[in-house]
Amino acid sequence: MTQFRIAPSILSADFARLGEEVRNVVAAGADIIHFDVMDNHYVPNLTIGPLVCQAIRPHVDVPIDVHLMVKPVDRLIPDFAKAGANIITFHPEASEHIDRTLQLIRDNGCKAGLVFNPGTPMHFLNHVMDKIDMILIMSVNPGFGGQSFIPEALKKISIARRMIDESGRDILLEVDGGIKIDNIAAAAAAGADTFVAGSAIFGQPDYKGVIDAMRAELAK
Ligand code: DX5
Ligand code: ZN
Repeated sequence: MTQFRIAPSILSADFARLGEEVRNVVAAGADIIHFDVMDNHYVPNLTIGPLVCQAIRPHVDVPIDVHLMVKPVDRLIPDFAKAGANIITFHPEASEHIDRTLQLIRDNGCKAGLVFNPGTPMHFLNHVMDKIDMILIMSVNPGFGGQSFIPEALKKISIARRMIDESGRDILLEVDGGIKIDNIAAAAAAGADTFVAGSAIFGQPDYKGVIDAMRAELAK
């Protein structure tokens, strides 16, 4: 049976109380903390870097999944690894040398993954599947929380699922953007096993209520 993972995106958390927020969301059942890094260059928004990752690290014992929406990518990787990241993903079009960046992440002791925007073709996976630990399918265009799920992403999730199954490797398939209680089951049916949710969780006072409702949808 598939092991499903809920990965709250702290982009929608209260940054003035971030330590408490991550502790609360893990206590509410989060499996992973999703950490969105934006540079006002690759995406039109600016968020958080390695210092904030380091600051939250002692507050949680679950993996921290760093989603890099930055260009260039490579020079931030050692800093995030030192700051306690466990998984680092990047967008293939933001790296000059995809294979090198994947190897750099692994050499720094983290799991590595590629992220696909709604308009990014999946062929970037060809020839690097042996260095991939996670595939992240964006179901919104990156840059902001609170956007609506783009249904076309379901097709890309199915394509990624097929590629993972054919590879025979243990690769997480994550979906990110507009995930709510009412569409999480569709993403799972398409083949996703790891679900990022920002506004759906942090936008409600009862984090456990939302996470439990998501798990109930996944168990149906
Ligand atoms: C968007 C980020 C997402 C975002 C998800 O660029 O990568 O992780 O915070 O937020 P929601 O769940 O609100 O779409
Ligand atoms: Zn993200």
